[in-house]
Amino acid sequence: MKNTVSTFQQAKANGEKVSMLTAYDYSTAKLIDEAGIHAILVGDSLGNTMLGYEDTISVTVEDMIHHCACVARGAKNALVVCDMPFMSYQTSVYDAVVNAGRLMKEGRAQAVKLEGGVEVAPQIKAITSAGIPVCAHLGLTPQSIHAFGGYKVQGKSEAAAKKLLEDALAIQEAGAFAVVLECVPSKLASLVTSKLDIVTIGIGAGNGCDGQVLVYQDMLGMFTDYVPKFVKQYAQVGEVMKQAFCEYKQEVSEGTFPAEEHGYKMDDDVIDKLY
Ligand code: KIV
Repeated sequence: MKNTVSTFQQAKANGEKVSMLTAYDYSTAKLIDEAGIHAILVGDSLGNTMLGYEDTISVTVEDMIHHCACVARGAKNALVVCDMPFMSYQTSVYDAVVNAGRLMKEGRAQAVKLEGGVEVAPQIKAITSAGIPVCAHLGLTPQSIHAFGGYKVQGKSEAAAKKLLEDALAIQEAGAFAVVLECVPSKLASLVTSKLDIVTIGIGAGNGCDGQVLVYQDMLGMFTDYVPKFVKQYAQVGEVMKQAFCEYKQEVSEGTFPAEEHGYKMDDDVIDKLY
């Protein structure tokens, strides 16, 4: 069954958890979709995991459209949520609506995600008024990494926790259907979840959230540049891949691959005429 923003609302009402994973290409999206995950986030984390940047700052709207369109072709039932990259919405409400529209029209996203609270509430209001569902993102918002001075847990002091709660209420009021809470103490994430009618999706925010999201290369052990504390590696796919690449190299060097069964046959009399 196709997941929509209504699925999120129903899940919260019924006390059912929402599952979300990132994907950036067709084959991965298809596997995630077949596993029955509710939503796929085409995260701007693709800057790190796919493009090899050290942060998400350089990711463009064109990058997001390109990867989102691949994911949308592979996702039959999962809701496809596409990140709005750095400076595609902060600059003005107009830019925010135009760029959200491009992610929907050209990237075939079914919802967009943007980072920030009170300060981006006008953008969320305008995008949702244009008929585009918006997921917000609070706590550790990677596009503000230079303002934070590093990847740090957010909302630990009384003032910061109060601000996070105010931001969450403001983005709900502006019309967001969900909010990602990243690197937030578990107790604060649970409190925010209990105060909101919309779905909270945690990453490094404990199990009191309405749902969870992980970067798929992190949970498969494929991205090892940096493994955050909140990541659980469900498999060591990176090791399996590396082992297969080594075996392939060995067999190519030895001449044992390709074997006869990997080749195509033709009549001997045809080839004999060429000698
Ligand atoms: O870009 C991304 O993948 C994200 C998740 C970490 C929530 O925003």
